[in-house]
Amino acid sequence: MQIAVIGTGYVGLVVGACLAETGNQVVCADIDADKIGMLRENRIPIFEPGLQDLVERNQAQQRLHFTVDVAAAIAGCEVVFIAVGTPPDGNGAADLRRVLEVAETIGQHLTREIVIVTKSTVPVGTALKVQAVVERWARHPFHMCSNPEFLKEGAAVDDFLKPDRVVLGVESDHARSVMTELYSPFVRTGRPIIFMSIASAEMTKYAANAMLATRISFMNEIANLCERVGADIDLVRKGIGSDSRIGPSFLFPGPGYGGSCFPKDVKALIRTARDYDATLGVLEAVECANERQKSRLFEKLRSALGGSVQGTHIAIWGLAFKPNTDDMREAPSVALIEALVGAGATATAHDPAALEAARHLLGDVVRYAESSYDALDGADALVIVTDWNEYRHPDFGRMKTALRQPVVIDSRNLYRPEKMKSLGFIYDSIGRGPAAEPVRAELVSR
Ligand SMILES: NC(=O)c1ccc[n+]([C@@H]2O[C@H](COP(=O)([O-])OP(=O)(O)OC[C@H]3O[C@@H](n4cnc5c(N)ncnc54)[C@H](O)[C@@H]3O)[C@@H](O)[C@H]2O)c1
Repeated sequence: MQIAVIGTGYVGLVVGACLAETGNQVVCADIDADKIGMLRENRIPIFEPGLQDLVERNQAQQRLHFTVDVAAAIAGCEVVFIAVGTPPDGNGAADLRRVLEVAETIGQHLTREIVIVTKSTVPVGTALKVQAVVERWARHPFHMCSNPEFLKEGAAVDDFLKPDRVVLGVESDHARSVMTELYSPFVRTGRPIIFMSIASAEMTKYAANAMLATRISFMNEIANLCERVGADIDLVRKGIGSDSRIGPSFLFPGPGYGGSCFPKDVKALIRTARDYDATLGVLEAVECANERQKSRLFEKLRSALGGSVQGTHIAIWGLAFKPNTDDMREAPSVALIEALVGAGATATAHDPAALEAARHLLGDVVRYAESSYDALDGADALVIVTDWNEYRHPDFGRMKTALRQPVVIDSRNLYRPEKMKSLGFIYDSIGRGPAAEPVRAELVSR
């Protein structure tokens, strides 16, 4: 099939490369000329396991092409995916300007009967808006399809090639049959393609992300309560996660959710509810709990350092909003760094993949270390923000020697508190110690 993917970010690039992998002719178009230049040279602008091979192979076999000419990408194609960004506007709603801009280009340049797929996460009613824009220009029949994407950054290629399910909002037989054919290689093991109305497909994406964000905020609040009552969140998590009605995923407490999706999608769904005079009280509470959680790391650190971080130097392990990605959008590390700098501390950060993205976003507000141990040199404390695998079994002796004082604040519960205590660390994590006995370091004078 001839396919165009408009917007070559995390989603568009993965979608384009995976569809080329199954033999389709795919053109990925983006207005970012630097990005397209890099991709043409097989340089991948994002860190995503498995993507490099896919892009290289399919480009070499001339099934995958990159262009800045969006109009040319659309001409001749049978299916066009809109995968541009939908960041929040000033009111928390999804900003649809890019989507509607692309819709206009599609309307002006389609040259045959086409299926227009909204892959970007967009509020209910967006496909209708796209349809109205395209209709103004189109001289050929077209069919709308809402096909929300559920891939996880860090496992995006695998998720696309082996999806749990494919959701397709279609309202014509043509769209249904074209999309079934396109996705059939990815659901051979029996994973379902779930057909539904376009509005239901649009809502499914938001409901999925809202549910996941809810689980995270719920567990963070339970973890905070565990600290007060002397319970251990890790045991509570196992205790509830083994209930088949609950399941074990998305029950880990942490520094609050971040990334390019949960924060903006939660906001956008709350906004949609308000627009329709409905209440999403649960989700509003989820968002508030997440905001509170983002400041907990800083509070724990301040308490461990005797009530002030002024004049201290802090090591940070992990900047990306989660492991296996370099995505810094809404990362909890950013909130921590802002709080530290605002309170008169300095910081050196390490991340296995996100240093470049962090430099781009934060500039020289912090120093950057090429190795995790380099970041510790002369620091008054270590804060672990992202649970990269390489932080799980560190050389604790080396850590202790490098730190000026052995204070570790661990937002991912990577280590056992008893072990850290026996090794002589002042250690705090999330939901595993009574707040009544705050750990505290006697600040070594600098
Ligand atoms: N990142 C994820 O994990 C994820 C998962 C599921 C769904 N989504 C949704 O997919 C959409 C895209 O997300 P992303 O993370 O890939 O965003 P991104 O910011 O990484 O990529 C968007 C790309 O679109 C390009 N673009 C913007 N306007 C354009 C235009 N008019 N024409 C052509 N290209 C244009 C940008 O240059 C950019 O490269 C969003 O709606 C997001 O909510 C993201």
